[in-house]
Amino acid sequence: MKVCLVFFSGTGTTAQLANILRENLNEIGHTSDLIRIKHNSQIDLNTYDLFGIGAPVYSYRAPRMVTTILKKLDFQRKPFFVFSTTGGQKGNTHWNLYKSIARTAGPSLGAFSVSVTTNIRAWMPNKRRIIPNYTISEYDKNRSYEFVHKIFHNLEYKIEEIPKQNYLLSVWTALLSFRWQMALTAGFKQINRKKCTKCRICAEVICPSGAITLNEKGYPVIRERICVGCNGCVNLCPVDAIWALKSKNRHQYNMFSKYLLSSRKIKSNRNISQKN
Ligand SMILES: Cc1cc2nc3c(=O)[nH]c(=O)nc-3n(C[C@H](O)[C@H](O)[C@H](O)COP(=O)(O)O)c2cc1C
Ligand code: SF4
Ligand code: SF4
Repeated sequence: MKVCLVFFSGTGTTAQLANILRENLNEIGHTSDLIRIKHNSQIDLNTYDLFGIGAPVYSYRAPRMVTTILKKLDFQRKPFFVFSTTGGQKGNTHWNLYKSIARTAGPSLGAFSVSVTTNIRAWMPNKRRIIPNYTISEYDKNRSYEFVHKIFHNLEYKIEEIPKQNYLLSVWTALLSFRWQMALTAGFKQINRKKCTKCRICAEVICPSGAITLNEKGYPVIRERICVGCNGCVNLCPVDAIWALKSKNRHQYNMFSKYLLSSRKIKSNRNISQKN
């Protein structure tokens, strides 16, 4: 089967999971493509037989930017599954992803989630006692392999699995997950022009929401109203030229470098010491 993994990833963790699922699919004889959702993505879904839809959890739901884009796509009544990465509380994320595409897609075959605390300080900056996991564990890789098998089992036996909705959380997130509130999670961002090398990576590769543009002198300008608070720019600028109050460049975002930057043949010279 030809599978398309359509995912959003701010800092690379969901991109890593998408890559793992792809390896698992390849191993059992299927081909798959990866498409990262961005504000300006051109997404062509015409040639696929099965879809995997992935996103990180932002404030107990899938980022609104993602569900807005998904709702506009036509999944051509093809079967699908959903997946997510979380800091530990997935909330309604699977339900949000399911709902965004259920109108145009076929049967829902299951949902898969991995908990990775890579950017835990991004949304809980004071919980410093939590030791981050920088990568998806072997245990979760095995789980994902089993999940991929389950998907094809469900397809064969026509078993539909619909994610559950938590109504209380839906009310909570309706009030608390607007774009500007997500931007505040990261904090207002500032550019240090003395450090900035005008490499353009933040505007052209890192930022998924289109919140970063370049001014006439080539320096980035950030529109907080459009920012989804992913913390990518703050943590991935190769020379640490972007700073925000709540996120002080203390994380190493190996996943992004490995699964998103490298795929564009753009190397970050950031000091990444944590092994994957
Ligand atoms: C703005 C923001 C909000 C978040 N909210 C939650 C949350 O409600 N629950 C949770 O478990 N993790 C939360 N996280 C953590 C992310 O879900 C987690 O780090 C995820 O793996 C990030 O994926 P990515 O690297 O693909 O962007 C949040 C992260 C950010 C940046
Ligand atoms: S990634 Fe950093 S160095 Fe490159 S343009 Fe953006 S702020 Fe400047
Ligand atoms: S401006 Fe920075 S934190 Fe906001 S969406 Fe873009 S990369 Fe993420």
